Amino acid sequence: MVRNPSLRRRLLLFVAVPLLAVLVCGGIVNYVIGLHYANKVYDRWLLDSANAMGDLVNSDAGRNELSAQARILLQFSVKDRNEFAVRSLRYGVLAGDQDLPQPSPSASHGGPVFTNFNDQGLAMRMASVFLANKADPGDMLVISTAETVRKRKALARELLISTVPIELLLICAAMALVWFGINRGLRVLDPLAHELRMRDAGDLSPLRTIDAPLEVQPLVATIDALLSRLDRMLRQQQRFIADAAHQLRTPLAGLRLQAERALADPSPATVREALAHVERLSAGTARAAGQLLALARAQAPDEALGAAAPLDLAATVREEVASRVPDAIARGIDLGYQGPEHGMTMVGDAVLLRELLGNLIDNAARYGNHGGAVITVGLQPSGIDGYVLSVQDNGPGVAPELIPRLGERFFRAVGSGHEGTGLGLAIVREIAERHGAEIVFINHNDPHGLRVEIRFPSAAAG
Ligand SMILES: Nc1ncnc2c1ncn2[C@@H]1O[C@H](COP(=O)(O)OP(=O)(O)OP(=O)(O)O)[C@@H](O)[C@H]1O
Ligand SMILES: [Mg+2]
Repeated sequence: MVRNPSLRRRLLLFVAVPLLAVLVCGGIVNYVIGLHYANKVYDRWLLDSANAMGDLVNSDAGRNELSAQARILLQFSVKDRNEFAVRSLRYGVLAGDQDLPQPSPSASHGGPVFTNFNDQGLAMRMASVFLANKADPGDMLVISTAETVRKRKALARELLISTVPIELLLICAAMALVWFGINRGLRVLDPLAHELRMRDAGDLSPLRTIDAPLEVQPLVATIDALLSRLDRMLRQQQRFIADAAHQLRTPLAGLRLQAERALADPSPATVREALAHVERLSAGTARAAGQLLALARAQAPDEALGAAAPLDLAATVREEVASRVPDAIARGIDLGYQGPEHGMTMVGDAVLLRELLGNLIDNAARYGNHGGAVITVGLQPSGIDGYVLSVQDNGPGVAPELIPRLGERFFRAVGSGHEGTGLGLAIVREIAERHGAEIVFINHNDPHGLRVEIRFPSAAAG
């Protein structure tokens, strides 16, 4: 089972990880600062020792030596190793450790000199002061005190350890506040969830009226788009059911009437006449059912046409025209195609486009000229990558005031003299719209006839 990611946990993680990084950085900074101040304090102490030793040496009545007590005091330390050296620039080492490095008087610049060095693998720090030798005015004494740096690091560590629990505590408090804040913050989604929960199944009105936070607005917009698609689809289905019922009820009533008539008067002439009606009515019903299904297919909100493979429009149109030629010849109609054999590649649905063309040719054959009908299907490029598919007949055309109504469901011009469901051009319109194409009806005067143009835009071209 897929576990859904938790927004709370994710937000907390986004806050916790940087906070922990801040803790680590804070610790490093604390340690560096601690070490800096420990160095300052212990350097001061080393310098004080060197100064005190200088006083002792110079007050020892010119002997430049230290008493045993002073040595013990200087070299005593519980944690660290301490060293000292008293040197005369003229006479060399007077007391203390011979191995201590000697700073050059030029490095002094009149003040003390601090030196870091290594003694038997131990890091040491030394403070040196330069004093005039009271016993020998031309000489200079260099008093150095040195110690290992262990206690400095120990002090910095202690400082660090003492601050870590406080920082940890602060971070825990911050996390608790963040957790609380996230929980409170997420509650602004409650009205939206409540609204969705309480909604009637049939209520597909948009949600945007709800007071949703700004960040959730894109989600609300997406849900609204889905709701409006659902609404459109539901309306289409309802309309289709109503159309289907309307289309089937009348011929079914007619069929029943004819059956009753035949039953009431079983004479062969009446039965024969009733059967002729039944045949005509059932053919009409079958056609209506076919047109209704074609309309439903044209409206089906299935996958976008963009996903379909590019099709050869010229070949599709030519084949559809060719398949209808035998029937046209049988009916004395001159059906022809003017356009390329192949090419005019575009993205579209070949089955739907054949349906569109079939309806236009069917109309031209039915409502066109009745003696010497000529129907010309044309295909030609238009603009950049655009195509125009046209079907022209040499019939009476359509009254100009009726042209705007062509494509309306069930619209049929009065007196056309043919049976039909009035769905053909509605199907054509749906299919054209699905391909982003425009449909134009033009009445021609010379020669007389209706020309229907389907103008595919360049954007629909593949
Ligand atoms: N080429 C044409 N010439 C003259 N009138 C036309 C032509 N094509 C369509 N019409 C008119 O437009 C009306 C609507 O056509 P449409 O194809 O939508 O329905 P239909 O042909 O009556 O029924 P269906 O095609 O569903 O069986 C027709 O009834 C006819 O009056
Ligand atoms: Mg028709």
